[in-house]
Amino acid sequence: MAGKMSRNDPCWCGSGRKYKSCHMAFDEKIEKYRAAGHIVPKQEIIKTPEQIAGIKESCKINIAVLDYIEEHIGVGTKGSEIDKWVYDITTGMGGIPAPLNYKGYPYSVCVSVNDQVCHGFPTEDVVLKEGDIVNVDCSTIFNGYFSDSSRMFCIGEVSPEKKRLVEVTKECMEMGLKEVKPWGHLGDMGQAVHDHAYANGYTVVREIGGHGVGLEFHEEPWVGYNSKRGTEMLLVPGMIFTIEPMINMGKADICIDGENNWEVYTKDGEPSAQWEIMVLVTEEGYEVLCW
Ligand code: MF3
Ligand code: CO
Repeated sequence: MAGKMSRNDPCWCGSGRKYKSCHMAFDEKIEKYRAAGHIVPKQEIIKTPEQIAGIKESCKINIAVLDYIEEHIGVGTKGSEIDKWVYDITTGMGGIPAPLNYKGYPYSVCVSVNDQVCHGFPTEDVVLKEGDIVNVDCSTIFNGYFSDSSRMFCIGEVSPEKKRLVEVTKECMEMGLKEVKPWGHLGDMGQAVHDHAYANGYTVVREIGGHGVGLEFHEEPWVGYNSKRGTEMLLVPGMIFTIEPMINMGKADICIDGENNWEVYTKDGEPSAQWEIMVLVTEEGYEVLCW
């Protein structure tokens, strides 16, 4: 796109200004990084102000759904109830639960308990009990714009070991977030997450990561946490992606349910935790759009 755009064309960002006095210098800066061997974002994952405004509306629904769950979840809550809350609130606000029918996924939300790493089915047989730790992962489509975030909930009294896993996992996400800045690299974030997890005796799931999001459910870049500072994709203002590390108390290895091909568990049966936020790279640093 940058190559095809002439100096006097209206800028691709929709500002109405001429390209030469809007994003031309920005695109040239990215080109310099590319020429120097960096992985750089394609223009299609750099959001315009109009797209960012639309994505923020989608995020409002996702936040409202998770806020409702936070207030109502507890001992005895069934997976199927959470699934209904998500469907009813999302559609009531004019949105669509993004997981529903996504690659054949049969529910509106993922509910992953204890040793479940992610993509847990919110069925009637899932009945939350005292001492469980559970991740509820919500994603919304509103007006064609996608949002995606997840939170952990401790059900009743939880053992100190599991509570610590939940807390450290949140810290991992927050320490990764602090590394997000324009003209930094995705690996700055990844290494911060990784190092904090391992410093606490935990491991990080390698196979499943975060992702660009906004115009699609899953866009470039893929967001891992085994990357090194100064590596991976260059971060530029207008990029939106999730930070959603899955941290295991035991070994990093995972396995997938052979029957439904969705639900992911730790191989050793030890607990796993995950928090997910959606982050916009800004001129100054970052803005959290969804949590
Ligand atoms: N919300 C998950 C994520 O963070 C994706 C779930 S895929 C689904 O990427 F099909 F289960 F929804
Ligand atoms: Co996600």
